[in-house]
Amino acid sequence: MNHGIEQRQSQHGQWSSRWAFIMAATGAAVGLGNIWKFPYITGQHGGGAFVLIYLVCIFIIGIPVMMAEIMIGRSGRQNPLDSMKSVAVENGRSSHWRWVGALGILASFLILSYYSVIAGWSLAYVFKVAVPSFIERSPQAIDASFDNFVANPWKLLFWHSVMIIATAVIIAKGVEKGIEKTVYVMFPAMLTLLGVLVVYAMESGHFAQSVSYLFHPDFSKLKTHGIVAAMGQAFFSLSLATGSIMMYGAYLPRSASVTKAAVVIALSDTFVALLAGLAIFPVVFANGLEPSSGPGLIFETLPIAFGHMPFGNVFATLFFVMLVFAAFTSAISLLEPSVAWLIETFKIPRRKAAIISSFGIWFVGLVTVVSFNWAANIKLFKLTMFEVLDFLTANIMLPLGGFFIAIFAVWFLNRDVARRELQLPDGKLFSTWRFVVRYISPVAILVVFISVIV
Ligand code: PHE
Repeated sequence: MNHGIEQRQSQHGQWSSRWAFIMAATGAAVGLGNIWKFPYITGQHGGGAFVLIYLVCIFIIGIPVMMAEIMIGRSGRQNPLDSMKSVAVENGRSSHWRWVGALGILASFLILSYYSVIAGWSLAYVFKVAVPSFIERSPQAIDASFDNFVANPWKLLFWHSVMIIATAVIIAKGVEKGIEKTVYVMFPAMLTLLGVLVVYAMESGHFAQSVSYLFHPDFSKLKTHGIVAAMGQAFFSLSLATGSIMMYGAYLPRSASVTKAAVVIALSDTFVALLAGLAIFPVVFANGLEPSSGPGLIFETLPIAFGHMPFGNVFATLFFVMLVFAAFTSAISLLEPSVAWLIETFKIPRRKAAIISSFGIWFVGLVTVVSFNWAANIKLFKLTMFEVLDFLTANIMLPLGGFFIAIFAVWFLNRDVARRELQLPDGKLFSTWRFVVRYISPVAILVVFISVIV
């Protein structure tokens, strides 16, 4: 039985080295979630206490579940649906486990539909802020410019289409020639730009105030839905339960250590989110702006803030270039699961699969495009359609998928298979992982879910 697993190869090739995997998976993890979403939801949920719960979720749920996902992907070596199915069947379990993989593919499909729209905003802003007169305008004019921008469905449609086409082109080129090559250029460039911006923020903004805002927990400001949002954010930011990480795991050479990779990816992702907070809040505070202003936070406040600074338009442009790179390396990881599934299920060429899947995602993305303008008044539980999609995926589908992945990895997967795959020679580390994934992660997810219902 185990032999079958050892010998299976992915039909899409594999990463050229374990570093390629780590870089690609970190590129998948680091994205709009860290730089756009983390600061604004931290602002909406009151700062430090939210950050603390987020960090707890990363450690007790994120890292252990990520290990499980990479392990399942590498054993299954197919798209998430078929990987879950074959690993389950090889371990004498029901093939119905494939639905957990299917849930992940569906989540990545839905997430990319709105992710691409926001990534499109970022790309549009590269061009807007590069013109020096843009950031020199009054704060009201900059705010109004963002409002006018999102009020125009045609503009959003244009940038959304550019992002989807670019993503599809890279995915059509395949794992090594497409994903790996792109990530090798964009990821280091993005990190360097972020570093430059943090240094800039340290020198020109209210750095100490931001450190205290992010790291001084005030629990009176945290409500139950803040806890759900923190857990959802941990899943979203680490790209868990969307098939992305499982998919990338399928291309991982056998020699690489799953545990080390998971720890490096999760810590880098967390580090970047905190760095982004440290780069963004100082400029927000230094200019008396509102940290809780929502999805527009970085698009409205940062150009205003940069407008007050020397070389502001250069740094503003760098900021949005960095954001586009970060978003792009995540977008490709969101497209790959559905493309791999199409190729393996219908035996069609990669190019064709990339076109079909990206077209479907582009089409569903129209819902997000109009939810900021024509359909802004169509609401479900007071949420716009974009907010519904975001809530449904990040706060419901991902934790649910993560719950089942954890349950599968310890209750249904053969213990020795798990141990061999995780390459944890130290028995203690392995038992700790099993204990956490068996009792702590799923229980934590359930408790958070139940706390919302009651
Ligand atoms: N983790 C990415 C981010 O933080 C988004 C993402 C989610 C990517 C799920 C892949 C899968 O922006």
